[in-house]
Amino acid sequence: MADLSKHLLLVEDEGPLRQAVAEQLTDRGFSVEQAESGEAALARLAEFAFDVIVTDLRLPGIDGSAVVEAAVGRYPDIIAIVVTGYGTVKDAVEAIKRGASDFVNKPFHIDELLHALDSALEQRRLKSENAYLRAQLQERYRFEGVIGKGRAMARVFQLLETVAPTNSTILITGETGTGKEVVARAIHHNSPRRMFRFVALNCTAIPETLLEAELFGHVRGAFTGAVGNRQGRLEQAHKGTFFLDEVGTMSTALQTKLLRVLQEREFERVGDSHTTKVDVRVIAATHNDLARMVADGQFREDLFYRLNVIPVELPPLRERKEDIPLLVQHFLDKFRAEGTGGQARAAMTVAQDAIRRLMAYSWPGNVRQLENAIERAVAMSAGRSQIDVTDLPVEIQQAHEPALPSSVALPEDGLDLDAFIAHVERELIERSLERTGGNKGRAAKLLSLKRTTLVEKLKRFGKAVET
Ligand SMILES: Nc1ncnc2c1ncn2[C@@H]1O[C@H](COP(=O)(O)OP(=O)(O)OP(=O)(O)O)[C@@H](O)[C@H]1O
Ligand SMILES: [Mg+2]
Repeated sequence: MADLSKHLLLVEDEGPLRQAVAEQLTDRGFSVEQAESGEAALARLAEFAFDVIVTDLRLPGIDGSAVVEAAVGRYPDIIAIVVTGYGTVKDAVEAIKRGASDFVNKPFHIDELLHALDSALEQRRLKSENAYLRAQLQERYRFEGVIGKGRAMARVFQLLETVAPTNSTILITGETGTGKEVVARAIHHNSPRRMFRFVALNCTAIPETLLEAELFGHVRGAFTGAVGNRQGRLEQAHKGTFFLDEVGTMSTALQTKLLRVLQEREFERVGDSHTTKVDVRVIAATHNDLARMVADGQFREDLFYRLNVIPVELPPLRERKEDIPLLVQHFLDKFRAEGTGGQARAAMTVAQDAIRRLMAYSWPGNVRQLENAIERAVAMSAGRSQIDVTDLPVEIQQAHEPALPSSVALPEDGLDLDAFIAHVERELIERSLERTGGNKGRAAKLLSLKRTTLVEKLKRFGKAVET
């Protein structure tokens, strides 16, 4: 809950409403001052460095947006929340552009305001306000946090562009560390819901007994320790996106309740008889094979179909090695910027033979493992401007390209040269087609062949060749 020592300036022209909100905020431990107009607010702000300002958007005279702008201009660290009586996203967007952290619609419950304050404070802790606002305002976030240029990721991006703006439920699958969560966030940021919250819940991070309350919230006295009413994550995601991570580990009892949420968009808080409705877009993720779990009777089939409306499969890193140099650069920049002692270091590069090992390795932990390896390498490089093979973890140093030389070793009892060469030829052609996204012209060039020669060879393989 909110920090007890926060000084809050409340700006609202309606006296009784202002008084009521001020009292509730005081009850929650804020030290509240009131201003009945924009002018009065600016005068108070000139004299005192408030931690938080909560302002009505529509005020006679100087309006709330201008108050926010003045407040943030003077105190870049102040948290500004606007209250809008008109519910138009446009006004709220304007206020956010001018520096507000969040907004609540009138009429609001005090918990909504407190929640907005809490998340703003939390965000503040996580990153500098500027970075946060920039991220929020990134109209063209365009899957920017998701790095990948190769064919495998191009397919993923294409799908994401199509489905992000919709309300469809999405099921993201992929091995650990393939970027399921980054992709879920990117979808949210590319959807009309981006002005609202992205709330994540990882089913494995929370003991089964607490998961239900975490998901749906609870009312006072619902179970031992339930001292007050509490919103669950689903409610927190109202109008935004709810990300249900590791959905494959849910108990069947909870699966049933989740199914109802997906069908009806409603549920009850634990211990509550009153039904709560929510408007959320659901994105689920799992590294499990849910279809198999359905077959084994471990996962509800109806829930699977409800979740799997749009399946997004993230390829393992070993199947998109062409993206490794790009990812390496991305993480180098990241860890260099984070640099020791907050000082940005000079540009760093990676020795080409280190890149080769990185590309030869099989990456069971996928992008996360690569990220860790680069973080470690930056530390190991101890100020050198280049990362060398020896800065890499030992298992990666030992990685070998499944290179041709090893496959041309002559077996003890000899081999069939023609068949062997035909096999190598076919494999190289397939790889070059893969690399060029099936473009025969460019694939031929890669192999120093004429396009017609390549097409002929493909025909010989018995491939259906569309020309
Ligand atoms: N395409 C990508 N571009 C940039 N960073 C990525 C990409 N994919 C993953 N990452 C980074 O790798 C790490 C792991 O990603 P994330 O947490 O999204 O994986 P995950 O699939 O949810 O893994 P898990 O199943 O273990 O939860 C994160 O730090 C993330 O920023
Ligand atoms: Mg994850």
